[in-house]
Amino acid sequence: MVSRVIPVDPFDLIIFGGTGDLARRKILPALFRRYCAGQMPFEARIIGAARSEHDAEEYRAFASDAIREFAVGTYSADALSEFLSRLDYVTIDAMGDLGWEELAGKLTEARVRAFYFSVGPGLFGELAERIHAYGMASKETRIVVEKPFGHDLTTAQALNATLAAHFPESQVYRIDHYLGKETVQNLMAVRFGNMLFEPLWNAQYVDHIQITVAETVGVGGRGEYYDKSGAMRDMMQNHLMQLLCLIAMEPPAQFEPDAVRDEKLKVIRALDAVQPHHIVRGQYDAVPGDDGHPSYREAVDNPRSRTESYVALKTHISNWRWAGTPFYLRTGKRLKARSSVINVMFKNTPHSIFGEDAGQHANVLSIRLQPNEGITLQVTIKEPGPGGMRLIDVPLDMTFSEALGPEDADFPDAYERLIMDVIRGNQTLFMRGDEVEAAWAWTDPIIAGWEARNDVPKPYESGSVGPRDADLLIERDKRSWRGITP
Ligand code: BG6
Repeated sequence: MVSRVIPVDPFDLIIFGGTGDLARRKILPALFRRYCAGQMPFEARIIGAARSEHDAEEYRAFASDAIREFAVGTYSADALSEFLSRLDYVTIDAMGDLGWEELAGKLTEARVRAFYFSVGPGLFGELAERIHAYGMASKETRIVVEKPFGHDLTTAQALNATLAAHFPESQVYRIDHYLGKETVQNLMAVRFGNMLFEPLWNAQYVDHIQITVAETVGVGGRGEYYDKSGAMRDMMQNHLMQLLCLIAMEPPAQFEPDAVRDEKLKVIRALDAVQPHHIVRGQYDAVPGDDGHPSYREAVDNPRSRTESYVALKTHISNWRWAGTPFYLRTGKRLKARSSVINVMFKNTPHSIFGEDAGQHANVLSIRLQPNEGITLQVTIKEPGPGGMRLIDVPLDMTFSEALGPEDADFPDAYERLIMDVIRGNQTLFMRGDEVEAAWAWTDPIIAGWEARNDVPKPYESGSVGPRDADLLIERDKRSWRGITP
C-alpha cells in the first residue's frame, strides 16, 4: 500500500526570513520533499525574502545546500534542479519600503499566497501592515507564524491583537509542529475511529496518563533564546499541552478546524492550577570528563542560570470525564534517550480470580510519537505450558514500519504536512489564538511562582532520566514512570 498524494493548487509562498535557520533546516527541505512526492505542482513558486542582498541564483544555491544537508531520502538531480527553478528572491526591509514593490510585482493574481513569518515576533505587525499597503492581501492570503507565540499571556495577547488588526483568524496559521507529526494525528484516528477505546477513555477505567517528551540533545547553539524560555515555555506550554488536549478532549462532532479546536480549548480551560509541590524543575550537568557535553550553564554561557532544561508535573482536568485521573507530564533535554510517548495506564481489574501471585498487571496503551512510531497495547495472557495459571504481559504491537510496510511508514516531516495544509486552507492542525492564550493563562502562574520563590532547578546528570525528585513526584502516589527507552 502506498499512500495517495493529492496535488495542491498552484500557490505563491513567500518566506520572510528566507535565509534563516528554519528555512534552511525545515521549510525548504519540506517543500522539496512535497515536490518530489508530486504534491507541490510545478507552477507553484517560492520567494525567499530577507534583508541580505542576494539574487535568485544565489538563493537557489542556498536552497540547494539546505536540501542536500537536510532533505532525507533519495531524489534525482533533475528533480532538484526543477524544484530550484521555482525559487526566487527579494531583498526586503521589513521596516521600510525596500523590496516591497518588487515583491508585489512577482505575485501571481488569483492564487493562494502564503506569507511565512519566519522572523522574530517584533516584526509581525510591520510585515502585516506592508502586505496590505502594497496590495498583496486578498481572500486567498494566509499568514503562517511560528512559536514562540509570546513569552506569557500578555505578550501573546498583544501578538494576537497585532495579527487580528490586519487579518481575520481564518487566515492565520499558528504552527505547533507537534501537531504535524504523523502519530499525533493518529491519536485522533485511534480514539475516534475505533469503538474499542472510547468507552474506556475516562476516569472510571484509566488510572492515570503519562506524557513524556525526552530529548538527548542539549540546548546546542540556541542558548540565548533558551535561557530566557526554559522547558516550561519551550515545550510544556505548547507541544505537551497539545498532546494533552488530543488525549483528553471530547469527541468533536466533525473533524473540522473549529470543532476540534473548540474541544481542545475546553480541556485547557478545565486544567487545574498546578500546585508548587506537584512540579519539579531540573537542569542538566556536564558529563564528567567529556568536553563535548557541557553542562546547561556552560552551554548557555550563564554560570548562575536558574532556567530549567527539564520539567515534570502532575495536573488534573476538572470535568466529568477526567475528575480523579492524574496526568503526569515531563520533558527534558540531555536525557537518556530520544523518546516521545504517551502511556494510558488503565486500572487493574476489580478482582483477580487468579489470585494475588498470578502475575496480573494493568493494561497499558502506549502511543509512541518518535522514534519507532507505533502503538502498543500491553495485555495479560497465560504463560504457555503446564504448571498452573501463571500470567504474563505481552504487547499487541503495531509498529507502523512493520504494520504498514517501510514505504508507507516513511512519514512526511511535520512541516511537509503543515505547509500543505496551509496551502489547502485547512486549519485543523494549527493553534487558534484563544487556545494559545488559554495555555499561557495556565502556564503563567507556575512560572510566576518560581520567580517569587527564587526557585533553583534540581541538577540532573546528562544521559539520565532526569532529577530524582521527578521520580518522587509520581512515586508519592504509589505509581512510577515508564522507562525512557528509544
Ligand atoms: C522545538 C523546541 O519546538 O521542538 C526545541 O524549541 C525542541 O527545543 C524541539 O528540541 C523538539 O522537536 P522534535 O520534533 O525534535 O521533537
